[in-house]
Amino acid sequence: MSTVTFKVFRGDRSGGELKDYTVEVQEGMVVLDAIHQIQAEQAPDLACRWNCKAGKCGSCGAEVNGKPTLMCMTRLDTIDTSKPVTVRPMKTFPVIRDLATDVKWNYEANKKIKPFTPAPNTDWIMYQEDVDRVQEFRKCIECFLCQNVCHVLREHDEKTGFIGPRLLVRTASLEMHPLDVENRLDMLKNEGGIGYCNITKCCTEVCPEHIHITDNAIIPLKERVVDEYYDPVLGFFRRLFGSKKRAEPSGQAADD
Ligand code: SF4
Ligand code: SF4
Ligand code: FES
Repeated sequence: MSTVTFKVFRGDRSGGELKDYTVEVQEGMVVLDAIHQIQAEQAPDLACRWNCKAGKCGSCGAEVNGKPTLMCMTRLDTIDTSKPVTVRPMKTFPVIRDLATDVKWNYEANKKIKPFTPAPNTDWIMYQEDVDRVQEFRKCIECFLCQNVCHVLREHDEKTGFIGPRLLVRTASLEMHPLDVENRLDMLKNEGGIGYCNITKCCTEVCPEHIHITDNAIIPLKERVVDEYYDPVLGFFRRLFGSKKRAEPSGQAADD
């Protein structure tokens, strides 16, 4: 057993500071264990959000030594505990208190995305390769770590004209669904703000579900927007036949 100092943000929307807590750590502990120990023994009013402690509910996102991560999946033996470990709330969203942030903007922005819309009298037959294409996107646990690191939201606070990587993933799951016939390209180009994304891939790097956010969701969506609005020939045929362009499993693109 050894002791580690944690510098944990304590405060609210009006401000706050890092406070030191010394924790006796044991083999196998994760950051969330340390936070729970602090709550149990030193600061019962320390606020943090968690639920599953298994990396599946998406609740416990925070910035540990400056790195956005799930606290329940960050083992202490993977970080340098010879120096104080800082734990701060996600920066992109307003602090409610301590480590709990207000992420409701994500649910408001989500309303811009038209829901799943099958064709009338659809036969509900899908090919496995079409199911596989969108399955990756369905793994999202809505931790919002990708939203937290995206510079468009984090540095530029562009929450009016950009929906962020999480919601681009959700849009991709609908646009690439084999039975969906809705067209969300206008939303992506305008209020969704896909043009703001400059493919830095920071979102992909932090995704705990290892979703290929940029390569498999954002880039194919960008291609569809370009085809629709900047390729007059393709745009003409798509408007004429109403087809939705989809990516093949190989990563190549093909028209339905
Ligand atoms: S790739 Fe795009 S969405 Fe992802 S972090 Fe970079 S700018 Fe944001
Ligand atoms: S795409 Fe990944 S990082 Fe973004 S909210 Fe979903 S699980 Fe979290
Ligand atoms: S507590 Fe559920 S993801 Fe960490």
